[in-house]
Amino acid sequence: MEKAIVIYKSRYGFTKKYAHWIARELGAELMEARKIKASDIQNYDVIIYGGGLYAGGVNGFSLITKSFRSIADKSLYLFTVGAADVSDEKNINSIRSSLSKVLTPEMESKINIFHFRGGIDYPRLSFMHRIMMGMMVKMIRKKPEPELSEEEKIMLETYGQVVDFTDISAIGDMIDHIKTRT
Ligand SMILES: Cc1cc2nc3c(=O)[nH]c(=O)nc-3n(C[C@H](O)[C@H](O)[C@H](O)COP(=O)(O)O)c2cc1C
Repeated sequence: MEKAIVIYKSRYGFTKKYAHWIARELGAELMEARKIKASDIQNYDVIIYGGGLYAGGVNGFSLITKSFRSIADKSLYLFTVGAADVSDEKNINSIRSSLSKVLTPEMESKINIFHFRGGIDYPRLSFMHRIMMGMMVKMIRKKPEPELSEEEKIMLETYGQVVDFTDISAIGDMIDHIKTRT
């Protein structure tokens, strides 16, 4: 029987939600990234990592990239969770381009990557995150209205609020991929 684990790092709970759904669907173990030792990851055949996107980077993903040599022969999955709309090709391309800066070509060829939409919880943001989002919104507000992308418009509309785009049906393709891989 193959052993699968879902490892996640979630700052405000959006990635955690997807990690729970995926683990439940697969009957996999579920573990927070901070609770697992890099050496223990090797005990699994299917390793799924999920992390929130922060300025393009995947929260805590170095746990996997640093251990890559010892787990390269496993079935590897990464899911990212961000506020941006992942049905928009432009957003996917931007996530992929940030990822390609931290993944070697071998990692890129071996890790199956999926993107899910999380949300943003302004009232709960840390001081630093609040400052960063405030700066971003300030920059967007300087742009002339016709130049705003859909994503930027949504950011302005939702600024300061709680928005949750998490959707259990989004995990379907990933689950199918894991269940039907050869
Ligand atoms: C400082 C900051 C930077 C962020 N950068 C991105 C980003 O580059 N791309 C994106 O899609 N979402 C970005 N987000 C939104 C988070 O990825 C989103 O809130 C996600 O759902 C967080 O998941 P978590 O609560 O599991 O950590 C950012 C949020 C903050 C506070």
